[in-house]
Amino acid sequence: MDKIIIEGGAGLKGEVRISGAKNAALPILASTILSPGTNTILNTPGLIDIKTMGKILTHLGAKVSVEEDRVKVDTTHINNPEAPYDLVRSMRASVLVLCPLIARMGEAKVSLPGGCAIGARPINLHLMGLEKMGAKVEIEHGYVKVKAKRLKGAKIYLDMPTVTGTENLMMAAALADGTTVIENAACEPEVSDLAEALKKMGARIEGAGMDVITIEGVNSLNPVEYSVIPDRIEAGTFMVAGAITDGNIKLKGCIPGHLDAVVAKIKEAGVEITEEEGGLRVKGIKRPKAVDIKTMTYPGFPTDMQAQMMALMSVADGISVITETIFENRFMHVAELRRMGADIKIEGNTAIVHGVPDISGAPLMATDLRASASLIIAGLAAKGKTTLSRVYHIDRGYEKIEKKLSALGARITREKDI
Ligand code: EPU
Repeated sequence: MDKIIIEGGAGLKGEVRISGAKNAALPILASTILSPGTNTILNTPGLIDIKTMGKILTHLGAKVSVEEDRVKVDTTHINNPEAPYDLVRSMRASVLVLCPLIARMGEAKVSLPGGCAIGARPINLHLMGLEKMGAKVEIEHGYVKVKAKRLKGAKIYLDMPTVTGTENLMMAAALADGTTVIENAACEPEVSDLAEALKKMGARIEGAGMDVITIEGVNSLNPVEYSVIPDRIEAGTFMVAGAITDGNIKLKGCIPGHLDAVVAKIKEAGVEITEEEGGLRVKGIKRPKAVDIKTMTYPGFPTDMQAQMMALMSVADGISVITETIFENRFMHVAELRRMGADIKIEGNTAIVHGVPDISGAPLMATDLRASASLIIAGLAAKGKTTLSRVYHIDRGYEKIEKKLSALGARITREKDI
């Protein structure tokens, strides 16, 4: 397994292009099951998770080919309704094929994703919605088996605005008989992007991006060419990297409106962020000010940026209170940040970070995707050398991160672990 080695202390300078959004590309790729024929999805990031989705679609009968950021998915012959354990266990987002499969084939058998490093992450709301739409849902031998000749439109209230749950049910409703209303729907930009892709296929969807989405089912959808939105979490991660290294960088191709909460908090810490043509400029400062953060659903502060902000707060001037409200176990980076000299206490779902003037490089272990990003950011600011192992986590969600960072002047390399 590879290692990432960082020699801290270099201020980042220059421009970086933000890749397509992983969490938009995954549901959009899954949605091609609904539109038989050749679909072309552009601006797809080169990530392990995207490859895994490609493997699942291939297993279901699709032909998938990748050329740079262009993924072609020919879904003419989807003939297998089963997503097996081996594929699903390596990526929870595999569950996004559940609803497209039922809508297309009348049945689906998908391995039930287990808990993961950040929390239990059940899919009960996805299944509740399907039952409301008339599907028969059974859980057997670790698989969820769902049958419905044709789903029926229904009124569905989500107890939590689940992102992939909203996406799954929107895809189910696109081909259902009648009108579906999803209440307390997730408002994340990735949900809106999926809705745009589905609309291009011919779906009738209103309200995506708001908490009530109305979908009028149609009989069939057409294949499309569609370009995925830029990744707001990758953009936010580079923003923090620029801030913590007292750098001066431009993020090219991000959508500033998707980053309001993140920009507001980083600015509150004293960092200068300005809109420029084609992106955002970030100018760091010697030492950021401590700010409090509470993760929320969109448009609140994203849980996917909590770990990276904690790295920034580790070296801030003052005390920062960081509250995680979305996942019950998303503080796995804390123990590793402490090994670098950060002063962080955890009380329930709250981390109290006493900023220290300096942290020092250390051998570290990544535990999940965003924790890995947090540790790389900390390594950029630390005195001396940081070695991060288990970097496959970072490759799931950041395209060529060490190449992008070293082009900005970071002293970062990747080594094969023997
Ligand atoms: N929840 C339920 N029941 C459900 C579904 C969710 O109780 O049926 C709970 C979860 O346990 C969690 C909360 O609702 O406590 C929110 O979870 P959500 O379903 O919104 O998360 P997700 O759809 O599984 C997506 C992203 C995550 C991101 C979260 C929150 C994708 C593929 N994944 O997950 O991304 O953290 O939304 O914004 O879109 C990442 O990229 O690193 C990542 C983990």
